[in-house]
Amino acid sequence: MVKAQNAQTGGRGTMPLIPAAKIQFLPEDRAWIAERIAEVLATGQLTLGKYGTQFEEDFARFCGVRHAVAVNSGTSALEIILRAMGIEGKDVVLPTNTFFATAAAVVHAGGRPVLAEMDPESFSIRPEDLDKVLTAKTAGIVVVHIGGIVSHRIRDLREFCRKNGLWLVEDAAHAHGSSYGGVKAGAFGIAGSFSFYPTKVMTSAEGGMIVTSDDRIAAEARIYRDQGKASFTQNAHVRMGYNWRMSEPHAIIGLRHLERLPSMISDRQRIAKIYDLGIKEFRNLRTLDVLPGGECNYYKYIAVPKELKDRKALKAALRERYGVSLSGEVYEEPLHRQPVFAQYVTGALPVSEDYCARHICLPVFAGMTDEEAHRVLAALQETIG
Ligand SMILES: Cc1ncc(COP(=O)(O)O)c(C=O)c1O
Repeated sequence: MVKAQNAQTGGRGTMPLIPAAKIQFLPEDRAWIAERIAEVLATGQLTLGKYGTQFEEDFARFCGVRHAVAVNSGTSALEIILRAMGIEGKDVVLPTNTFFATAAAVVHAGGRPVLAEMDPESFSIRPEDLDKVLTAKTAGIVVVHIGGIVSHRIRDLREFCRKNGLWLVEDAAHAHGSSYGGVKAGAFGIAGSFSFYPTKVMTSAEGGMIVTSDDRIAAEARIYRDQGKASFTQNAHVRMGYNWRMSEPHAIIGLRHLERLPSMISDRQRIAKIYDLGIKEFRNLRTLDVLPGGECNYYKYIAVPKELKDRKALKAALRERYGVSLSGEVYEEPLHRQPVFAQYVTGALPVSEDYCARHICLPVFAGMTDEEAHRVLAALQETIG
């Protein structure tokens, strides 16, 4: 293993910083994008045009579903699905260790978020924890593929929903291209939502996508995203929609990044393999293994120290002494501890509290070098290994 040279010098000297994440648009991709943005600027076809349609078709094919509907964020993608499912006055179960937007979308669509405990093996949810939180009003479950991991229990979750007369929706904001048993994220439930926010594995600058093989949900999504209009050319407003459209420049960026997605994912997987092998030798750090049948895009590389007294101090030491930036956690604070969701809290969720406080996310991005990954391992070994 590479030794972190800076340990001898007590500082990182001229060692370049390894960022937590980095965006990759190759020069030829930037040129491709610029050419097409110039085209739509010239024609004035700036929204709901041919590039949006192409992006939708390609993304649906990539996920193995019948429909994809492009929108302006991952948050609106999820809210639209939930509106199409009709959740007013109903309960929707979701993990407490997720991003604000998963629960906020439920609230905005008129439902009540019910927060469930997480599974330490996958950072997702488990049927045995869901049993405890079902109510007579439960309409469905939102599973979140945290860090890009599709849980090895995903089929059990689907079966749990079927038995209980519930629907399953996937918040796949982290999981472009991840799969389990050959089925892609977004294709397990009745519908799935993706985010193309710039930190994600692929981006359209801002943007989101609804994927589904359900014709009704796809048709509803097209109505909702465009001010609830019955169709593009009709001014009959039949749903309480909003302006959730994706512009053509965003679609152009997304379309190109989608083409690059397989190579960007394989870069991330190469780095993850180096981390997996290195961390196996550590005493205090465990990897979050992707179990047989699973394929992970490594939006995050999650590792769990057996003991971690002060994550902020560790992050500061890694940055200042070793030039290594850890990435943001998934998540630092579970939703049941967020002030805005206080009214929905029904009890303690100790496993999530423990894991949210104790895990770390290593740097991983397309274009990261093997040497950088070994430098991260060496720095970790000297700090918490
Ligand atoms: C789990 C999860 N859900 C939803 C979202 C919302 O996506 P967006 O930022 O595109 O609205 C995010 C984005 O960060 C997310 O991480």
